[in-house]
Amino acid sequence: MLKVVVLVSGGGTNLQALIDAGKCGTITNAQIIGVISNNKNAFALERAKQNNIPAYVVSPKDYDSREIFNDALLNKIDELQPDLIVLAGFLVVIPEQMIQRYRNQIINIHPSLIPSFCGTGFYGLKVHEAALERGVKVVGATVHFVDEGTDTGPIILQKAVEVQPGDTPKTLQKRVMEEAEWKILPKAVDLIANGKVSVKDGLVAIDTAQR
Ligand code: GRF
Repeated sequence: MLKVVVLVSGGGTNLQALIDAGKCGTITNAQIIGVISNNKNAFALERAKQNNIPAYVVSPKDYDSREIFNDALLNKIDELQPDLIVLAGFLVVIPEQMIQRYRNQIINIHPSLIPSFCGTGFYGLKVHEAALERGVKVVGATVHFVDEGTDTGPIILQKAVEVQPGDTPKTLQKRVMEEAEWKILPKAVDLIANGKVSVKDGLVAIDTAQR
């Protein structure tokens, strides 16, 4: 059983997609053993509690420096001993020490087709604003392993979503979540939990046999 810890900052709809996928059997061989938020008001914490998942707050506001916060975050994660860490809308820069310690064990969901509209400054609605400004006709989401860069790690899954006439950043954000993020994030966790994902030379291979 893959032990999964989910890191969140906000509404937690991606967390909910993971919880639901576990309940209905879309994800097998995995269990969410904890949810950590940097924001004590995140609704994601409620979702965890409603599903009897231990929820923790580790907020930079409670620590004197970024270094001490980073240590506290890493300590909490080490204590939980996860096999996989899922960043599901976690708006905190991941400490380098954590990336090294959990190499190819941290995944992130990003609301664009990487390498478009990603990197520093591309988060939340900004991603969708930029896509509409550029006039692209297809957007989407990406699940990738986390490395030292911003959105630069090995890509696991991507799903495309068409831009519709009249889309606003908000309508596009919603459709990308519904049609892409909530599907590929659980799917990636299921693939990892069932030993189907390997990384070699910075590229992901997915074993599609018997699935
Ligand atoms: C999602 O769009 C995700 O791709 C981005 O942050 C948002 C999180 O939403 N990184 P939620 O908290 O899962 O509802």
